[in-house]
Order: sequence, then C-alpha cells, then structure tokens
Amino acid sequence: LAAAAAVTFAFVAPALAADECDDGEMVIKFSHVVAAHGHPKGDAATLLAERVNKEMNGVACMQVFPNSQLFDDDKVMEALLLGDVQLAAPSLSKFEAYTKKFRLFDLPFVFNDLDATMRFGNSDKGKELLTSISDVGYVGLGYWLSGMKQFSANKPLLVPSDAKGLKFRVQTSDVSVAMIEAMGANAQKLAFKEVYGALQTGVVDGQENSWSNIYTQKFFEVQDGITETNHAALAYLLVTSDEWLNGLEPDVREKFLKIVQDVTDEANANVGKQEAANRQNIIDAGSTIRELTPEQRKQWVDTMKPVWDKFKDDIGQDVIDAALASNN
Ligand code: LMR
Repeated sequence: LAAAAAVTFAFVAPALAADECDDGEMVIKFSHVVAAHGHPKGDAATLLAERVNKEMNGVACMQVFPNSQLFDDDKVMEALLLGDVQLAAPSLSKFEAYTKKFRLFDLPFVFNDLDATMRFGNSDKGKELLTSISDVGYVGLGYWLSGMKQFSANKPLLVPSDAKGLKFRVQTSDVSVAMIEAMGANAQKLAFKEVYGALQTGVVDGQENSWSNIYTQKFFEVQDGITETNHAALAYLLVTSDEWLNGLEPDVREKFLKIVQDVTDEANANVGKQEAANRQNIIDAGSTIRELTPEQRKQWVDTMKPVWDKFKDDIGQDVIDAALASNN
C-alpha cells in the first residue's frame, strides 16, 4: 500500500508546487518521463531545481514534472518551442526528426562503456554535435548519461537467435528497428509510458533499456529476466529553446548555465554507481540477470554490428571515428 501511494503521489505532484514560486520569479518548467528519484535523470533534474531555487532565489524558480505527467518525449520538443516548458532531457534516440547525427548513440557496440560515452561527450566532436539541432531553434546544454542498455524478454535470451520471432519495444529510432530486425525479431516503437503495460499484456515480448529504467519502471516484474548485453549507451540531451535562453538577461543566463554545467558534471560522475545499485536492486527483487560468455557476446556483436553500414553516411565517418577513439 505504501508503495502504491508513493507512486500515485509521484504522478500528481511536481518537485515544487506552482504556488511555491514567488511573485516576480521567472518560472522554469522541466518536463521528463522517468522516475523522480533513484534514477540518473530524475535525480539530476531534482538537483538542478534545488540549485536554481537556492542560488537564483528571487529571480528564477524551477519546477520539475517527472513520469511523463506533463508531456511525453514526442510532445515535449514542440512544447519547448511554444514556451510551455523550458527544459527537457529526451534520450538521443528521440531526435530523429531534427538531426540524424545522434543515431551514433543507438549504433550497437560503438561505446564499450559509460566512461567511453562520457569521454566522447566531452570531446570536441561530442561538443560539436550539441549544436546539431540549433538550426531548428533548440540549444543542447549538455549530455546526461543514463546507462548501458540491456535486453529483457519474456523468455531467456542468451544468443541473438533466442530472440527470433519475438516483438521488442523500441524508442522512436530507426537504428534500433534495424538492430532488432537483424536479430530476426520485430520492433515496435512505443512511448516510454506505455512500455510496462505493453510488456504486461503481451503487446510486446521484450525491450532494451538501462538498469535504472528497468528497475524504476518495474519492467523486470513482467519479464523472464534481463540479459547483460551492454549493447549501446542510453544518454540524454538536456535541451532548451534558443528563444528562451537568449531572451534571458546576460547575468541570469550566465548564472543558470554555470549551475547547469556543475549539475551535469556531478550527475554524470554518479551514474555508474547508480546503475550498479539498480542492477543489484533488480537481483534483490528476485529477477534473473544473465551474463554472457565471451562466445555468446561475440554472437551479439556479429549479428548487430552490420547495421552500422546502413546509417554511417547519416552519422558521418568522422563522428563514428571520434566515438571509437573514446574507447581507448
Ligand atoms: C525510453 O524511452 O526508453 C527512454 O528514453 C526513457 C528515458 O528517458 O530514459
């Protein structure tokens, strides 16, 4: 009962109620789709709001709306341009309509681990990609990491052929669709908030996500187990609109961007620990995690890596090379 009450509460209450903003303060709304707590993005958003509300008190007031309660990832991009919300952090898979460069992050087995992904984000090429949606009115403020992606399904998956004929939920990413098809399986694009229900009712058989999403969304409850494939990085773009950011007074903008940078660095430094904790939480909840032998892992790599060919021109060989260099 206590758990159910907590979940209901999370759906109705933003981190800071609207009436807690003082008259004259600029309201900054941050909408995201994941859990408010115990998740890299949920916790980073909370930390950002705490810092803004303390250090910019009287000037700005941030409200966080987690759990898709305000907008899902499809709607939030439009809402940013309309000024209905000022900040969002959709996963990089959700930007297909704006740039094809971020397809890099969905390519299977590009990044060896989270550290490599972070090194790429901090590299010149990674920073250059932050500007790849500026022509359509957005400003990328930084990458927020979530974790490496794992597969789960309603039957054991040890090698890719175990997935044959199954249907997997994917994000709105054509790379993910191609990857699932390479496994001889079917892909269905679904909004994040629909995934639990779709797994539970058998609309789809499996999905791919970070440990933190699999735990906080309770996907493990409606799956046979999770296979530790670490096949791609789930990362977000903290994004705002150019019109809003450049409409701020220069000193306000500077202060805000400094806080954003601090929180980005702090949150990314904590992701590894948080992911490990949520992996353990899944084990403690009684679910099965299947680790791959080197031979099994090779089968996943050999099956999925050929999809690179289809997307490498969209992404650019220079970008792929920079990503691969970050593994060293
Ligand atoms: C998903 O749709 O699976 C993820 O992008 C959700 C998230 O924001 O972590």
